[in-house]
Amino acid sequence: MTRVIVVGNEKGGAGKSTLAALIATAMMYRGSRVAVIDADLRQQSLSRFLANRRRWLPAAGVDAPVPMEFKLADDTAALAMGDPARAVACFEEAIGMAMVESDLVVVDTPGSDTPVSRCAHLQADLVVTPMNDSFVDFDVLGLIDPLTLELVRPSLYTRVIQEARAMREAHGRDLEWVVLRNRTIGVEVHNRERLSHGLESLARQANFRIGPSLRERVAYREMFPFGLTIADLSPGVRPSDISAPRQAAREELRDLLTGLRLIPRSAPASGDTAGEAAAVVAPLA
Ligand SMILES: Nc1ncnc2c1ncn2[C@@H]1O[C@H](COP(=O)(O)OP(=O)(O)OP(=O)(O)O)[C@@H](O)[C@H]1O
Ligand SMILES: [Mg+2]
Repeated sequence: MTRVIVVGNEKGGAGKSTLAALIATAMMYRGSRVAVIDADLRQQSLSRFLANRRRWLPAAGVDAPVPMEFKLADDTAALAMGDPARAVACFEEAIGMAMVESDLVVVDTPGSDTPVSRCAHLQADLVVTPMNDSFVDFDVLGLIDPLTLELVRPSLYTRVIQEARAMREAHGRDLEWVVLRNRTIGVEVHNRERLSHGLESLARQANFRIGPSLRERVAYREMFPFGLTIADLSPGVRPSDISAPRQAAREELRDLLTGLRLIPRSAPASGDTAGEAAAVVAPLA
């Protein structure tokens, strides 16, 4: 059975495209046949990441896996400006083909409510929502009382998930939801504790799991021009001006995949897998 993971959050800049690229690349090394769809028709960050990967790998002589990409159109920005029903039809066609060809489909969505994004959420077995450790980001998930900092009610994006879940359940299908904090930094203890309280209340009310956090790391953003993620790096695969991935980042990636229940708890840390160890030396192209 092909699994569909939708990386979503109506808040822009939460880390959706970064996380989608990370999950897609890491799961190829874990043996999945991965397909990706970039449903952010205007920005196309994930699609551009993959275009960079397709150019950089052969130029650098690196034999690393590339996910299958299913594009909605040649000119997705024009598609976004046109008839929404046509864009939705293109998405449905793309995901239909992706599901036939792969074990895992990773869909990146825009930081806004669009018909294509809604349609993607209806297809999701798992929605992964990254959020910055900030009340501004939390505000699209839940409304917080300014006097007590207690959760008042779910807000915009939570309702999108609730609606998608209700529609899936009507057809006997589940929607698992994991929310995780992205770009965490060590010093914000008080802010994090206050935010945790709201997040835990909302998790109970809206039925999501709180996933493992990703820290703020240069390694998550510096390799976009090469189309690489930390899942690709090994002693043999490294653009020449990139620092070696630290053990902590590799463990963080493994915790992410186990937290999303994509790999078993006993799996080795990223970088220890056969695919990564077998990759060849990669000078900067
Ligand atoms: N854990 C991280 N550490 C460092 N930088 C990060 C991390 N996660 C994301 N970033 C950076 O944060 C910015 C926003 O990330 P990204 O583009 O993935 O978010 P997004 O949710 O896809 O945004 P949009 O809603 O605009 O599509 C980018 O510059 C990205 O490189
Ligand atoms: Mg994005």
